[in-house]
Amino acid sequence: MTESELRQWSQRDFAHKYLEIADIMIVGRKRSLDMLKSFYRYFLRGKKPNRVLDLGCGDGVLAHELLNIDDSISATLVDGSNDMLEKAREKLVEFGNTRFVNMSFQELTSEKPDLGKFEIAVSSLAIHHLTSSEKADLFKYVFSCLVEGGYFVVIDCTRSQAGPVEDWFLELWRERIEERQVGLNVEADFEKMYEKYTETEHYSRLDTMDAQMNALRDVGFSEVDCYYKHGLFAMFGGKK
Ligand SMILES: C[S@@+](CC[C@H](N)C(=O)[O-])C[C@H]1O[C@@H](n2cnc3c(N)ncnc32)[C@H](O)[C@@H]1O
Repeated sequence: MTESELRQWSQRDFAHKYLEIADIMIVGRKRSLDMLKSFYRYFLRGKKPNRVLDLGCGDGVLAHELLNIDDSISATLVDGSNDMLEKAREKLVEFGNTRFVNMSFQELTSEKPDLGKFEIAVSSLAIHHLTSSEKADLFKYVFSCLVEGGYFVVIDCTRSQAGPVEDWFLELWRERIEERQVGLNVEADFEKMYEKYTETEHYSRLDTMDAQMNALRDVGFSEVDCYYKHGLFAMFGGKK
């Protein structure tokens, strides 16, 4: 995270605004959370106890979803913003087996703290803030944190290699937001969100689905696949 981004996420208003609008702005949000739970049930639920690492946890939504289906999980939540971690602490207060780590991804990859071993690492809408080489470093670190046979599941924005397809993805996003806003009768400032998303520094960091899956393969992940994709929103991952 750049200094300015870190400052932004650390501002209470910015962080809270994101949480308010995330369900509207992120196409397939509920579906990807449902798919993550299905993934967990299918691949991991029989193998208790499971340790989960959530990278860029925000308010802890992913850990919350997983703990709700398996409260034997111990969860380690990492975020560069203390304010977001505070929200996560509040959200997960009923679960005892949680740990909160205030570190940026850049700090994780340079300092390589020993956070223990995990059966699954997850991350939603956080890794796209990194440059390609920072993503590769993070994937390497995650690989080192997983047990043999452990999984890494990423929910995030991707971009298309082809300009016209990318333009359509953005239009598809606009159409879906408008549809949802009318259906839910809520106002969300799509233009502002769109401007922020396509703003040069942010946009330049987005990588294609293929590039990210190849980066996972390069650090040693197998069974790498895309599990879900709707325009620019995708869910993908692999196994150690
Ligand atoms: C868009 S929010 C997503 C939060 C949550 N995972 C979700 O799906 O709702 C992005 C989160 O990633 C964190 N983040 C962004 N860049 C980061 C970085 N370089 N290191 C650590 N955390 C980062 C932000 O603080 C924020 O909490």
